[in-house]
Amino acid sequence: MEGYAITAQYYDPLAAATHADVDRQIAAALEGLDTALGPIVDIGAGTGLTTALIARTLAAAEILAIEPDPAMRSALMTRIWSDPDLRERVTILPFGALSAPLPEQIAGAVLSAALVHFAPADREMLWALFAERLAQTGRIVVEVQCPTADDMPDTQMASVQVGRINYQASASAQRIGPDRQRWHMSYRAGIGERELRCDQTTYECWVVSADTIVAEAARAGLTGRITNDLVVLTRA
Ligand SMILES: C[S@@+](CC[C@H](N)C(=O)[O-])C[C@H]1O[C@@H](n2cnc3c(N)ncnc32)[C@H](O)[C@@H]1O
Repeated sequence: MEGYAITAQYYDPLAAATHADVDRQIAAALEGLDTALGPIVDIGAGTGLTTALIARTLAAAEILAIEPDPAMRSALMTRIWSDPDLRERVTILPFGALSAPLPEQIAGAVLSAALVHFAPADREMLWALFAERLAQTGRIVVEVQCPTADDMPDTQMASVQVGRINYQASASAQRIGPDRQRWHMSYRAGIGERELRCDQTTYECWVVSADTIVAEAARAGLTGRITNDLVVLTRA
């Protein structure tokens, strides 16, 4: 097992501990979006943390949650099925973003912690897809996750308690190209000094800055506005 097949079991508590500030930014960027224009597409929905955030922020939105990984998708289904409101409003699409069946018009899309999985050629297709389908007053909210391909020493990312068990995540990164990093993730679960599990996995990620996203999207006909950790793309 590797990648999200390892990460999925640890994802929610550890992401909740590290992503709250970006979540607030995403909610603010979505505020007031006209959901009558079409669904909101959650690209790389993962376990559904972003899906639930979109649903809380836009109370009438229909959401298309695109998630290709089966391990993450099983957590996503549990989250959606356990909430009658989400069950009504969320469609889970078991595809990558570029092959998912999408309606002709969408009100918006969110890429939260997902853009690192898109190579430059994939991003070009993604911006073109948005340019083709985004409603005139719609918005695409993109998290700029890894703007530069730097090395990073092993760093503790989060430490959370669930019942008697403490879960910790640490990460290190190596630059493996001008726009490429290899991330090593370690997840530890323990009670006091006793380690119960230690799982590790690696991700090879694409690095892209906010300015590059704006330039790439402009070539597809979209306008980008950079705010803190996000780029918001519109037609205006
Ligand atoms: C770090 S998770 C982010 C989950 C969620 N958006 C959040 O912020 O908590 C990134 C997700 O992107 C998904 N992903 C990877 N490649 C993708 C692709 N080509 N299209 C859509 N999603 C993809 C992964 O399977 C993973 O679940």
